[in-house]
Amino acid sequence: MFRSDPRGLAQTVGGRIEILLDEPLGTISPNIYGHFSENLSGVIYDGIWVGENSKVPNVAGIRKELVDEMRKISPPIVRFPGGCFADSYDWRDGIGPVDKRPRRTNFWNGGEKAGAPDAHRYDPNRFGTNEFVQFCRLIGAQPYLAANLRSLPAQEFNRWIEYCNSPAGSTTLADQRAAAGFRDSYNVQYWGVGNESWGCGGNFTPQEYAVEYRRFTAWAPSYRAGDLSFVASGPSDDGWNWTRGFLEEIVRKGKEQVRGIYGLALHYYAWNLSRGKTNDWEKGKGDAVNFDVVDWYELLRQGDVMESLIKGHWLVMGEFDPEHHIKLVVDEWGPWYKPGSELTPGDQIEQLPTLRDAVFSGLTLDTFNRHPDKVGIGCCAQLINCLNSLYLAHEDRFCVTPVGHVFQMYAAHQGGTSLRTKFSVPSIHYDRDGQTASFWGLQGSASLHEKQLVLTAVNPDVKNPVEAQIVIRGAKVKSGSASMMTSSDIHARNTFDQRTAISPSTAPLEIKEDAPVFRFPAASVAKLTMTLA
Ligand code: AHR
Repeated sequence: MFRSDPRGLAQTVGGRIEILLDEPLGTISPNIYGHFSENLSGVIYDGIWVGENSKVPNVAGIRKELVDEMRKISPPIVRFPGGCFADSYDWRDGIGPVDKRPRRTNFWNGGEKAGAPDAHRYDPNRFGTNEFVQFCRLIGAQPYLAANLRSLPAQEFNRWIEYCNSPAGSTTLADQRAAAGFRDSYNVQYWGVGNESWGCGGNFTPQEYAVEYRRFTAWAPSYRAGDLSFVASGPSDDGWNWTRGFLEEIVRKGKEQVRGIYGLALHYYAWNLSRGKTNDWEKGKGDAVNFDVVDWYELLRQGDVMESLIKGHWLVMGEFDPEHHIKLVVDEWGPWYKPGSELTPGDQIEQLPTLRDAVFSGLTLDTFNRHPDKVGIGCCAQLINCLNSLYLAHEDRFCVTPVGHVFQMYAAHQGGTSLRTKFSVPSIHYDRDGQTASFWGLQGSASLHEKQLVLTAVNPDVKNPVEAQIVIRGAKVKSGSASMMTSSDIHARNTFDQRTAISPSTAPLEIKEDAPVFRFPAASVAKLTMTLA
C-alpha cells in the first residue's frame, strides 16, 4: 500500500495564507452543507429506515445511530426522494395507513443484483413524506422535496405542496396529514421541479423543459408570502446549452419570469479517471479504493472543475438574470467510481470513501464557501450507502466515513461571512503518463463569525507537508486551535470492522509574532479556529 509520507522523503514546503478581513464575499448559506437521500438501493431501506420493530436501535423506525451522528454536523437541508427516482414517484403512495400503501417498482429496480432485499426493487412505500419530514426534524434539517415532472400532472405537484403546507384543519389533505399524526404544517420551502429533465427526468430539450417549468410553477398553493422556493432542473457539468436554452425560453415571456425561480440545479460528478483516454461513462471510471498517486491527483483535479462550473454557469445565468435573482443549487455532487468497493454486497452505486474523498469533499466545500453569492444550496450525493457517503450502514452495522468527518469539521463555516483568502504555496508537479502535470499546493476558504475566524484548507500533496504563515489583514489572533484529518496511507478508510481507522485529531495552533503558523500535513484536510483580539 502507498504511504503518503515515506520517512526521509518528505520535504516541508513553505507557504503563506493571507485572510482579507476587509474583503467580505457574502454570507455562507448553511444550506450549502446539505445532503441528498434518494430511494435508491440501500439509501432509504437499510440506511435511514430500519423500521420500528427492528432490533437495530431506532427512533420511530429511523436508524438512531444515524440521527445521533447527523446531529453533530448541523445538517441544514436534505433532498428527497431523488434523483431519477423522483420523476417516477407518486407521493400519494407514501402517505396514509401503512398497511394500505402500495408496492411499486422502484426506478432503480433494473440495477439491483440477485440477493438484494425486495425493498430495493419494489418500493414498499413505508418511508414516505411523513417519515422523511420526521427524519429531518430529528436531525434538525429542513426538507427539500423533488417533485415528479415527467410522469405526474402539475395538479399533483400542487397537491403535494398542499398536503405538506396547508394549515391544520384547512384542507382535506391537511386532515389526512393530521390523521397520520402530523397536525401542523410541514412548511416545506424548497421544491425541485423535476430532476435531470434532460435525461431520466423526461428527456426534454431545455426549451421544452422551460415550458413545463412555467406550467408547473404558474400557480402553487402558498400560505404566506415567500413560503415556496422552486429549484429548476439544471445542467450536468458544463452543459452551458442547457442553462442558456432554459433561461432563453423562460424570459421569452418577460424578464420578470426569472423571479419565479429560486435556483437552478447543477449536478456534477467526478468520474473520469482515464487520464484523457476515454469519455465512456463505464470505461472512464476509476476504483474507489485501489488507486495510485496519479489517480489521487486526477480525482482532485476533477473536483477542482467545480469552481469553473460555478463561474461559467453564473456568467450564462447573468445574460438573462443580470441581478442574479437565481442561485445555483448544486444538489448532486461527489466522486463516482466503478462498482466493487461496496461494504454491503449488492448495494447499487455504494462505494467506500477514503481519505482521497475526504480531501475532495473539503476542496468542494471550500469552493462553495468562496462563492457565497452564487451557491444557495449544495447537496452531497449521497448521505448514506451511496456514492460520496457520509455514513455506511447495513443492518446493525454502521460507520462514519472520512467524508462524514469533513462535514463535521466544516460545519463551523455555516452562516459565517466568507472572506477573500489568498494562498501562496508552490504548485505540485507529478508524472501523468509521461507528461508533467501540475496542481495547486494548498487551497481553502475562511469565514468570520464575530470574533471567531475559521480557516479550512486541503493539502493535496501526497508527500510533502506545507508550513504556512497565516496573515490576517486587519486583526491580530489572540488564540487558536486546529483539527486535521490525514493518514500515512492515502487509501485510509473506515469500515464496519474498523470504524475509527481515520478520524480528525486536534493540535495546538502556534502563534509567532501575532501570526499563526501551521503545518498542513501531506494529504490532509485541516480546520483552524482562531479568536481575534
Ligand atoms: O445520485 C445518483 C443519480 O445520479 C441520481 O438519481 C441522478 O439525478 C444522477 O444522475
